[in-house]
Amino acid sequence: MQPEIMLGTVLPLLGLIASASATILQNGQVKITDYPDTKVDPSAYAFETYEADAFEISYKGRWDSKKISWWSAPGLVFGFTGETVAITFGNETVDFTLVGYRLDGLDWMFTNVTAGATHLFVNPETPGVNVTYPVNPATFELRVTNWAYGVQIDKVHVAAGDGLVKLPNPGRAIEFIGDSLSAGMYTAYEGLSSFAYGVGAGLGNTDYNVVAYPGICVSDQDCWGNPRGQVHQYFYTSDTGWRAAEIWGDNPEPWDFKKQQAPDIVVINLGTNDNNEANNVTTETYVESYTKLIQGVHGKFPDAQVVVMELWLGFYQSGNSYFQNKGFNQELYNIVQYFNSAEYLTAPKIWDGTTNATRTLNTTNHQPFVHFFNTTGIMQHNDIGPQWHPTDVGAIKVASHLTQFIRLTFGWELEATGPEVFHDTLYWNDETSY
Ligand SMILES: *[C@@H]1O[C@H](CO)[C@@H](O)[C@H](O)[C@H]1NC(C)=O
Ligand SMILES: *[C@@H]1O[C@H](CO)[C@@H](O)[C@H](O)[C@H]1NC(C)=O
Ligand SMILES: *[C@@H]1O[C@H](CO)[C@@H](O)[C@H](O)[C@H]1NC(C)=O
Ligand SMILES: *[C@@H]1O[C@H](CO)[C@@H](O)[C@H](O)[C@H]1NC(C)=O
Ligand SMILES: *[C@@H]1O[C@H](CO)[C@@H](O)[C@H](O)[C@H]1NC(C)=O
Ligand SMILES: *[C@@H]1O[C@H](CO)[C@@H](O)[C@H](O)[C@H]1NC(C)=O
Ligand SMILES: *[C@@H]1O[C@H](CO)[C@@H](O)[C@H](O)[C@H]1NC(C)=O
Repeated sequence: MQPEIMLGTVLPLLGLIASASATILQNGQVKITDYPDTKVDPSAYAFETYEADAFEISYKGRWDSKKISWWSAPGLVFGFTGETVAITFGNETVDFTLVGYRLDGLDWMFTNVTAGATHLFVNPETPGVNVTYPVNPATFELRVTNWAYGVQIDKVHVAAGDGLVKLPNPGRAIEFIGDSLSAGMYTAYEGLSSFAYGVGAGLGNTDYNVVAYPGICVSDQDCWGNPRGQVHQYFYTSDTGWRAAEIWGDNPEPWDFKKQQAPDIVVINLGTNDNNEANNVTTETYVESYTKLIQGVHGKFPDAQVVVMELWLGFYQSGNSYFQNKGFNQELYNIVQYFNSAEYLTAPKIWDGTTNATRTLNTTNHQPFVHFFNTTGIMQHNDIGPQWHPTDVGAIKVASHLTQFIRLTFGWELEATGPEVFHDTLYWNDETSY
């Protein structure tokens, strides 16, 4: 009864995409994508200009040394004075990539950006631009919505005489390692509608990164055209997509883990692609790779708590009701048990994903750090869309439950108390008694 679950995306993996412009069907209707055109001629403005590596700019997620974005929902954030923010995008930007951007605690706005062009995101007419309460200094955030497309930052501009302001790091940090399910594939705003983004942004006062790419396995082998698995690629800056192959070829930059705010929690959701027969991953390889990935995370972030998510493989109808397929359930549970066993805790092994060196930590009292998140019962069959991925509602359900799990397990209070997290989810009925 196992349906064919195709978590790879066909087009982006072929490397033929020249533009991100397309007709999107959402709930069977043409999605309206007439986002405002923010492209301007920079010579018509008096700007104060900053280079992409300006100290005041905080990059979020993974960006390489050329300031090119990778993986899902990478972004940047900074404070600024004045009423103007513009960004010039580098030539490695994929034309028409859809970015989300927001001012202070106001809602996400969207626009398509172009290689080599300057886009004006904030101007004196932007709602909220002159308001200094409660967010002060004024704060600008931008996130790339799609994992396969990406942008390159060339320059950041404010009005002449104004400046960027470095913002302090949030009080805590979370990182997600995953595949299409964490990347937000087939949700309305992709990365900005994913459960991973929803947990990160929804916790509030939290730095979040989503190191996820559609089709990828944890096992280090080709899965749906991704040449490497997360047990390898997590330790590199770029992902496994066609852009990375074009820009970095066989020599991707190892990720400098010191560049990010060290996560307090790392959530892993991997195995749905390993579990697909088409990828020929053995159970033994899966368990070995998953275990190594956790040892690798522990080596990079010895203080991080790790959350292993139970997989959900979709639902099928049988008789007069529905049932859920699961994969590697016992294996995942056993992995968690192993990290909590005396065998591991008395001689904890860590592994380095770039040098492949394994070593045993010299410790007498190693504390358990791996947790199991049971996803059973969170989604029902109609929370998975026709493309085998959570709908927006499904993603929100997973995000909500995982957020509460984090609160109950680690005592993290929910600090987002108003500003929008999920855009375009205002579903309601304005007619009573119909
Ligand atoms: C902007 O991006 C959306 C989503 O990728 C796409 O549907 C739309 O066609 C793009 N618009 C333009 C003008 O390229
Ligand atoms: C972008 O510009 C750099 C430096 O000028 C050049 O080496 C590179 O080939 C260009 N890439 C594209 C995609 O045009
Ligand atoms: C902000 O203030 C300037 C003058 O200081 C004014 O021209 C502009 O309309 C104001 N913008 C908004 C959105 O209120
Ligand atoms: C999986 O194994 C089958 C049978 O050995 C083979 O035909 C297929 O090409 C393999 N697929 C991959 C992705 O290696
Ligand atoms: C990594 O090390 C293991 C054990 O030491 C070895 O079996 C494996 O071949 C190595 N892998 C690579 C890519 O060097
Ligand atoms: C491990 O720690 C013990 C106690 O602190 C110390 O005596 C020993 O030399 C250490 N071993 C290594 C290999 O660092
Ligand atoms: C997950 O939750 C379901 C429903 O409560 C339960 O049947 C199952 O045993 C749980 N799985 C594990 C590994 O605890």
